[in-house]
Parts: sequence; C-alpha cells; structure tokens
Amino acid sequence: MEKGKVTLSVIKADVGGFVGHSSMHPSLLERAKEMLSAEKEKEFLIDYYVTHCGDDLELVLTHKWGAENEKVHKLAWDIFMACTKVAKDLKLYAAGQDLLTDAFSGTIKGMGPGVAEMEIAERASEPVIILMADKTSPGAWNLPLFKIFADPFNTAGLVIDPKIHEGFHFEVLDIVENRTIELACPEEMYDLLVLIGAIGRYIIKAIFRKGDHEIAAVASTQRLNLMAGKYVGKDDPIAIIRSQSGFPAVGEVLEPFAHPHLVEGWMRGSHHGPLMPVSFTQATPTRFDGPPRVIACGFQLNRGRLVGPRDLFEDLSFDGARKLANEIAEYLRRHGPFQPHRLHLEEMEYTTMPEVMARLKGRFKS
Ligand code: 13P
Ligand code: 13P
Ligand code: MG
Ligand code: MG
Repeated sequence: MEKGKVTLSVIKADVGGFVGHSSMHPSLLERAKEMLSAEKEKEFLIDYYVTHCGDDLELVLTHKWGAENEKVHKLAWDIFMACTKVAKDLKLYAAGQDLLTDAFSGTIKGMGPGVAEMEIAERASEPVIILMADKTSPGAWNLPLFKIFADPFNTAGLVIDPKIHEGFHFEVLDIVENRTIELACPEEMYDLLVLIGAIGRYIIKAIFRKGDHEIAAVASTQRLNLMAGKYVGKDDPIAIIRSQSGFPAVGEVLEPFAHPHLVEGWMRGSHHGPLMPVSFTQATPTRFDGPPRVIACGFQLNRGRLVGPRDLFEDLSFDGARKLANEIAEYLRRHGPFQPHRLHLEEMEYTTMPEVMARLKGRFKS
C-alpha cells in the first residue's frame, strides 16, 4: 500500500449459472452486494460495484490496500463461497464452477477466479474502462489491446497526441513456459505481433506508458499462470484500461470492438465465435450458448469512489458490430462439428477422442 494511492481490484468467478451457463440469478448479485456493503460501512473498502457478464460474477472493488492484498482477496473468495451456497440452494447450474479448491491460502490467484488489479495515483480526472467477457478466454484481449495501444489506424492519439506519441510497453505472458517478456511499441511491433497473434500461448498481461512506465492496462491471466505447461481450458477474462489525458481516449479504447473478431470459447469452450459487444442487459449468451459477449463499464474515479458505471456498448454506434457478429455467428454455425468453428484438437474443453480411439484401435490399417 502506498500513501495517497488507490487500488482498483476487479475479481470474478463463475459460481453458478441461470439458466445453464446463460446468465446469473439475481439472488447471487444481492448476496455479493450485502457482503460488500458491510465492508464499505466498516471502511475496509472505499467503494464497490457488482455485476455479471453472462454467468460470471464480477466484483469491482476500490480500496487503499494495494494489489494482491490477502484481505481483499480473502473477501472476494468469501463472497464467491457465499454465492456458491446460494447457487447450490437454488440448484443453479454448475454451482461453484470456477472455485478450484476448498480453502483459501493467502491469494485468490491460482484458485480459479480471475483477477485484474492496479494501484494508481488518481489523476485530476481518472476515467477507467473495465471490460468483462463471457464464453471466451484471456487471449481474446490480445487483438483489441494491441489496437488500442499500438495501432495508429485505431488510436489517433498515437499519431497526434504528444502525451502518447512515444508509445507503450507490452508485458506478455508465455503460458507454456510460464515466463513474461516486455516489448516496446512501435519499435518492436513486429516481434510483439509474432507472439500475441498466437492467442492460445502468448497473452498480454499489462501495458505501461513509455517514459514514466505508468500502468495503462491490466488483464486477468490467473488460471493460465497457475497451470502453465499444459492446456488449461478457458477462463472468461476481464481487463482494466485507463483512459484520456496521457492514455487513449474512451472512443479509442472502445473502437476495436466495432470489429467482432473471432475468439475461442463458444459452446462447451470448444468453438470459435465472434466477440459481440453488448449492453449490460444483453450480456446473456443464449444462441448455442453464445456468441461470446463483451461489456464495457465506464467509471470516473473520485478519490476511490466509483462514479458510474456507464454502459459503454449500449450506444447505437455498436449496432452494426452486433449485426455483423450475428452474421458471422450464422456463417460459422453452418460448419457444425468441423474446424475452424470447432477448435483445434488440443484446445477443446470437451472431447470424446480418447474413448473413440480406444474403441477403434485395431481397426486402423497401414
Ligand atoms: P485528452 O487529451 O484530454 O485525453 O482528450 C482526447 C479526447 O478526448 C479526444 O477525443
Ligand atoms: P462458461 O465457461 O461461461 O461457464 O461456459 C461453459 C460452457 O460450456 C458453455 O457452453
Ligand atoms: Mg458457467
Ligand atoms: Mg462464463
């Protein structure tokens, strides 16, 4: 904890779906709010906001305790456990889905939930955007984060704003070797793209402004960190992005989502689909459990208080992206069980391959 600084922690988990994996029962949101309201009253938290994206429960917390604080993580863990109990009582679907262990052990990292945190000295005005997605995986942020912080055709400020003209540093996690590397843009852009174009292996973890190394963005990569070295499946991701005055403008942060790019994680975590930007009320993936969704919560921080959120994809300027996403979804669905709609063999969350191969053994001729 640093004096005068505020920490923004976004922690999420799927603790039970309503109905199936499509959305969240209101009683889970209520339980989480009750518990957070008590912590705000005790002044352990400055402020909080609770929402959901599809079946994922999203906790937005502000406090003075710094990133990776044991008490803050324990609070989130306790909320997920309490909400799992509510989900179990209602026999909701896959109650406790993302909680990989029974007991808390100092940090929520590696226990199943996703975490994105940053400790910052609040600027004179501090607009932040929190992205939350369902039916996809952390690699889904690579393309939009690249566009926001490195593509001059997306972010005009990289060309015409002296405050960001120098560019940004990208911290990238290699999930197979469990190691990170920092690359500078624009000068190492092509090297960066060789890595982050491979969304199943290299994931953008954080972005820093060149010069003062001020944190600009963080994304959740926890489960991937934990089980590096073997394929770990999907984990619906979150990201925090700072905006304006020395960072990309709000419209530059949202612009990449006007193009519904293909991501992994639709239906049984085993299909590609377009990432559809939607309003809070449309974050309910239903067609073939999708297509994958992303919502954007905009806040102005005010001494740690969360002024907001604004539902940033509610705007009609994203109607075209939604229409296109539905057309892409329709086109991909016609492929049924064939790649590239179905994911590559190694990346499917569900497979019958071992059983089928065992049964067919002996019938292959060479
Ligand atoms: P700032 O330089 O204050 O971030 O303003 C940029 C802007 O909002 C233009 O759209
Ligand atoms: P979630 O990862 O959002 O729980 O979705 C699981 C699934 O298999 C949907 O088809
Ligand atoms: Mg689920
Ligand atoms: Mg989910």
